[in-house]
Amino acid sequence: MVATPVELLAPRTEEEVQAHLSAGKLVEGLQHMSPKYLEGMRRILTVSADTELVSAPSYLRAAQHAPALNNFGSAMSIIQDELAHAHIGYRLLGDLGVDMDWLIYERPPEQFKYPYAFDVPLNSWVELVCANALYDQAGFVLLSDVYQTSTFGPWKRALAKVDKEETFHLRHGRTWLRKLVKDPGGKDEVQRALDWMFILTLEWFGLPDELKKHSEQLSYGFKGKSNDELRQAWMAEVVPFMEEIEIEVPAHFDAEADEYVIDCPFPARFDEEKREWLLHQSPIDWDDVLARWRERGPMNRDYVRTLQRGYQTTSLRKAA
Ligand SMILES: [Fe+2]
Ligand SMILES: [Fe+2]
Repeated sequence: MVATPVELLAPRTEEEVQAHLSAGKLVEGLQHMSPKYLEGMRRILTVSADTELVSAPSYLRAAQHAPALNNFGSAMSIIQDELAHAHIGYRLLGDLGVDMDWLIYERPPEQFKYPYAFDVPLNSWVELVCANALYDQAGFVLLSDVYQTSTFGPWKRALAKVDKEETFHLRHGRTWLRKLVKDPGGKDEVQRALDWMFILTLEWFGLPDELKKHSEQLSYGFKGKSNDELRQAWMAEVVPFMEEIEIEVPAHFDAEADEYVIDCPFPARFDEEKREWLLHQSPIDWDDVLARWRERGPMNRDYVRTLQRGYQTTSLRKAA
């Protein structure tokens, strides 16, 4: 399929888009977009939809270790929410002229744009509920920001529902963690999971502001907060909670600086097979992190194959 050039799909000039936004109006579709707005919106929507989609096979893998059937049911309802969240993003991308079948079912695994953290396997029920407390919290921080500040009306409205569901996911994580840490064995297991998952979620928010490339995300009101502000917002939720349940994390609040400070080398080198941070070989620079992200991690192919398998093997697949 030959994709329609963005210049034909998005007829507005930059000045027209800015004037539309300055008048307090939302962008409702291609008719209000410039090519630059369209490209930026496609980029941020793809990251969001891919993240929601890949969380499904990642959580499914761990949910199989649910201690009881009703716990498995809770995990399934979270997974179902995530698939619905992904669907919202891909539908909007379809409206923005992207070939949805290609995007979801034919795209090579390494071209998916979700955070690297999901490429590292979750191997137990404890790791699943830690992911709810950390990863779903990250999703909540990011999407609440989009919900409050996005200038793209259809996405903004859809996020009212998504926000509520993410709140349920992270509460599921927190409720379980409070329960698990009461038992010494459970507490050790949570601590071991946090040892690799906390720094991986810090990375989730991307490059620090001074190295960040896509400035249109802020200038167009796609997001309100910068990467570093979002990282701070996430730590402001997670660090006090971990202190409350007496789980150690490498960050603390510095009252004088009025911000959270990371107490380990960051960014750092990660052994993805052992799921261990090689802090004595760190810090590294962000180019090394970007190279690791580009390579993708251990579960990338497996998860994307799981998501694409039905499409690849049914006769519903459209004629090439
Ligand atoms: Fe979600
Ligand atoms: Fe979620």
